[in-house]
Amino acid sequence: MKYQITFVKEGKIWEAEEGTTVLEAEIAAGLKPDAPCGGRGKCGKCMVRIGGKDVPACQTVIQGNLEVETLRGEAGEQILTAGYGRKVTFHPGELAPDVDRPLMAAVDLGSTSVVAYLLDGRTGEQLSVKSVLNPQRQYGADVVMRSSYALEKGADILSGCIRRAVSELLREATKACGRSQEEIVKIVMVGNSCMHHLFLEIPVDTLVLAPYEPKVKEALELKASEYGFMVHPDAKLFWLPNIGGFVGADTSGCLLAADMDRREKMTLMVDIGTNGEMVLGNSSTGLTACSTAAGPAFEGAKITCGMRGSAGAIDHVYLEDGNLRFHVIGDGEPQGICGSGLLDAVACLRRMGWVDESGRMKETYYFTQNVFVEQKDIRELQLAKAAIAAGIRLLCRKKGIEPGNIEELLIAGAFGNYLDPASACAIGMLPGELKDRIVSIGNAAGEGARIAALNTEEFERSRELAGKTEFLELAMDPDFQDVYVDELEFPEEE
Ligand code: FES
Repeated sequence: MKYQITFVKEGKIWEAEEGTTVLEAEIAAGLKPDAPCGGRGKCGKCMVRIGGKDVPACQTVIQGNLEVETLRGEAGEQILTAGYGRKVTFHPGELAPDVDRPLMAAVDLGSTSVVAYLLDGRTGEQLSVKSVLNPQRQYGADVVMRSSYALEKGADILSGCIRRAVSELLREATKACGRSQEEIVKIVMVGNSCMHHLFLEIPVDTLVLAPYEPKVKEALELKASEYGFMVHPDAKLFWLPNIGGFVGADTSGCLLAADMDRREKMTLMVDIGTNGEMVLGNSSTGLTACSTAAGPAFEGAKITCGMRGSAGAIDHVYLEDGNLRFHVIGDGEPQGICGSGLLDAVACLRRMGWVDESGRMKETYYFTQNVFVEQKDIRELQLAKAAIAAGIRLLCRKKGIEPGNIEELLIAGAFGNYLDPASACAIGMLPGELKDRIVSIGNAAGEGARIAALNTEEFERSRELAGKTEFLELAMDPDFQDVYVDELEFPEEE
């Protein structure tokens, strides 16, 4: 039996099977809803209004015709596209000789957002940049949830939706500069190992279950038309190599962008998202990488009033004359708090004595009647920051150095770009000694893809870099649990 579901705001009517959920109907109708917990009824972020009542879409079973009002807004989503700005010689290799004005594309396939850079194949000039939220978020906020979905229901749904999204981005990017997709002759992609496997429809079982290794690590050269792209029939699709575990092609991109293996200073590069990937080393010690599951707390999932960094999010919190003040993206009424705001808020609440070293709160802190931070949020943040801090400590141990010996700390990715380093150090996510040595390097993964597109030798170098980067599997490290538990506490207030 089928029922009619009317999505009021979108002006869309959809026929849905009895017994399916409103979330499934939203997905089927192409509304791309947020479902950070993958529809398990745990995150409360898929709320819709039905008959004047707010209910979780994933738990609402269709048993009749419904009028559904969706409650989210994506306006003003901040997607980071700028990189570090490393200069690279233009040497793209041979591009389809029958195309007069060849185009190239570099794509950063992030768990949260996808960015496509369109480049002129004759000069290397960047012609346009387009970005979109990753539509796979309707199947879960992080790579573990999406992998579980793929294992249960098949990877084809997830790969189909991401291939369509990338293809659409390329269409928009070419349209923006009056060009045609058929002129694209080369695409270089990066993404973490899970995004890599889901895009290519490679089974993800070995990533989420022992041995926690990607099935395919080596750099790839494929035929773009076989992956749903409407580009030149001979266009090539390149993927940078995966390194190990969840340390994927995106980290290979970051290594290229930051020139990690040529640095003399002892450098730590951290890319913080739902996973924290980090690489430590320099030109003489070599590089060691690890990945730690920070969970989606920094992107607003699992935080009661959490949201991504879009219009309405409290993105910065500070103390002024002993009072807590905040800034809202878009300057309107706050709708929630995003990762950078949460980090600042907890750092300030620590300073005010509202939260103690163990993470216990005096009471819930209200920014407004509807936006607040409560005990459970502090606990989520502690889990996330401890995962990052433990990863850094174990990497240092592996290299035989103390965190204070790190001379430069590069932070890649959107969250790293917006966070206040002082707050990250105050809550113990990053080593306090490094507060003045932190440099944000923007979307380094995307920049790495761009570098590899512009210069074939850099693409070859990415193979070499991945091959010589040692991978530290934290899940197998007998000390991980102890270090992690130690890092749950907040540092003493200075
Ligand atoms: S509660 Fe519905 S997706 Fe999380």
